Amino acid sequence: MTRVLIVYHSKTGNTKKMAKAIEEGVISSGAEAILKKVEDASIDDLEGIDGLILGSPTYFGTMSAEMKKFIDESVKKRKKLENKIGAAFASSNFVSGGNETTIMSLIQALLVHGMVVAGDPIEGGGGHFGVVSIKAPDEKTLESCRKFGRRIGELAAKLS
Ligand SMILES: Cc1cc2nc3c(=O)[nH]c(=O)nc-3n(C[C@H](O)[C@H](O)[C@H](O)COP(=O)(O)O)c2cc1C
Repeated sequence: MTRVLIVYHSKTGNTKKMAKAIEEGVISSGAEAILKKVEDASIDDLEGIDGLILGSPTYFGTMSAEMKKFIDESVKKRKKLENKIGAAFASSNFVSGGNETTIMSLIQALLVHGMVVAGDPIEGGGGHFGVVSIKAPDEKTLESCRKFGRRIGELAAKLS
């Protein structure tokens, strides 16, 4: 079965709500979704997956230190993620608060791992580079998260 791991950080719950909706979307694609708070995630979770979705709140225009720590630890799993599907999502307080730069910081790590990164071309979707939310996600944003998760689940199945 296709397996997609979602690793996210969330202090006040906004990114967590997005992660749960993305999980629903992955499940709706027929893939298995493994949802992990970054505090509970181990780099061993990166083994045996077909897709990886990373989510972070925007802290000073980039990913949180907690996400960066996990990514830095993941250097020990080089080669394990090669040619797998990767994607990212982010939350911020302001429209121009840095969601896109946060997503790009996550995508950079996925690229360094040799992953095939998927954007979000869905019309009326959450964002071009991956789904985003300003403050807590509203129902429209949650629906974008579900569609995004479904798309990544489907792509992971195609590549696996
Ligand atoms: C240390 C810190 C730095 C932040 N920096 C930014 C920022 O640069 N731009 C922004 O729009 N929001 C910023 N925020 C707000 C968070 O990105 C925003 O509240 C986000 O939705 C929190 O996600 P969470 O509820 O999953 O923790 C910052 C919050 C904290 C705690």
